Amino acid sequence: MEKLISHRSNLQSVPQLYILPPETRPGNTQVLIFETIPVIDFLQLGTDRAELIKQVTRAAQEFGFFQLINHGVPDTLLDKVLNVANEFFELPGEDKESVYSENPMQSCRLYTSIDYMRERVHYWRDVLRHPCHPLEEHIQFWPQKPPQYRDVVGSYSVEVRKLGLCLLDLISEGLGLESGFFVGELSQVQIMATNHYPLCPDPSLTLGLPKHSDVNLITLLIQGEVSGLQVLKDEQWLTVQPVPNAFVVNIGHILQIISNGKLCSAEHRVVTNEKSSRTTVASYINPSFNCQIEPAKALLAEDSSAPLYRAFAYKDFLRTYVTDTHQGVPPLERYAL
Ligand code: OGA
Ligand code: NI
Repeated sequence: MEKLISHRSNLQSVPQLYILPPETRPGNTQVLIFETIPVIDFLQLGTDRAELIKQVTRAAQEFGFFQLINHGVPDTLLDKVLNVANEFFELPGEDKESVYSENPMQSCRLYTSIDYMRERVHYWRDVLRHPCHPLEEHIQFWPQKPPQYRDVVGSYSVEVRKLGLCLLDLISEGLGLESGFFVGELSQVQIMATNHYPLCPDPSLTLGLPKHSDVNLITLLIQGEVSGLQVLKDEQWLTVQPVPNAFVVNIGHILQIISNGKLCSAEHRVVTNEKSSRTTVASYINPSFNCQIEPAKALLAEDSSAPLYRAFAYKDFLRTYVTDTHQGVPPLERYAL
C-alpha cells in the first residue's frame, strides 16, 4: 500500500524515485495544443454509415486516435462512472487496502505499476483494474465500496462493450474484412482500468504514464475535464483536449498487427498536473489469452501484400511486452517479419 502514489499525501516536492532522467521529462519536448486529434460524430451511423466508416478508418490510420461524440452512452452514466471512480480513490486507506494487491494474477486489484520493483523511475499514477465480461463471472470480485460501484460500473461495462464492438465492426468494414470479423475470441476479454493521477508538486519532472501503446485491440477512455493525455504524431506531442462527454478511442498493438500495419497503434503518455488531480476510466477490448493473432489473411490476399508480422498467441505477447518494454525494445519488433 505504501507504494501507491495516492497514499503519499501532501507531498511538497517530487520524491527522487519519481524524477525522470532529463531526456524523458515532459518539459523538454514541445507540445502542440492547436493541432488536435479528429472528433467524430457517431450520429452519422443512422444517416451516413459509409461516411462514418471513412472518418473512423482515416483517423485510425493517420492518428491511431480519435474522439467520439453522440455515441449513445448516456451522459448521466458517464458522470456516474467518473464520480464513482473518484469516490473510490477518496475512500479511507483501510477500504483501499482490501483491494490493493501486488499479485498480477488477482482478478480485481489496486496497484501502481506492474513493474514497480524493476522500473528505474516510478510513475505518478495508481490504477484499479478488473475484467468486466461476462459480467456475472467477474462482478463478485469488484470493490464493494463505494456501495454503488458494482451497479454503476456493471451498467457502464455493458454499454461500453456494445459501442466498442460496434466500432470494431465499422473498422472491419473499413478495412474490407468480412462483417463479424472481430466477434468471438478476438474481442472476448474486456478490462476496465481506472487511472488516478494525484496532484503533483512539479509536473515538469514526472509522468503519470510513460510513452506506450496499448496491448489490446481498442481502448475507449473517458477523461473528464482535466487534460493530461498526449499523443505522438509525426514526432510531435499533441494534447488530447477534453471534449465534454466524448470517448477518446485509440488503436492498440493487436489491431495494428491484424490490419497488417494499415491502422496505427499510436504512442501516448500522460503528464501530471499541479492544480487538479485527474481520474480517467479506460475500457480495453482484448483477445482471449489463447487467441492466435496474425495479419488478417483476407487483407493480404486482397492486394497480394506480404505479412509484416508473424503469428503468435496473445498470451505470449503479454509476456514479451513487459520484458521488452523494460529493456527499451519496441514490443512489436520481435514479431515483425
Ligand atoms: C491507458 C492510458 C490515458 C489516460 O490507460 O493505457 O493511456 O489519460 N490512459 O489515463
Ligand atoms: Ni494507454
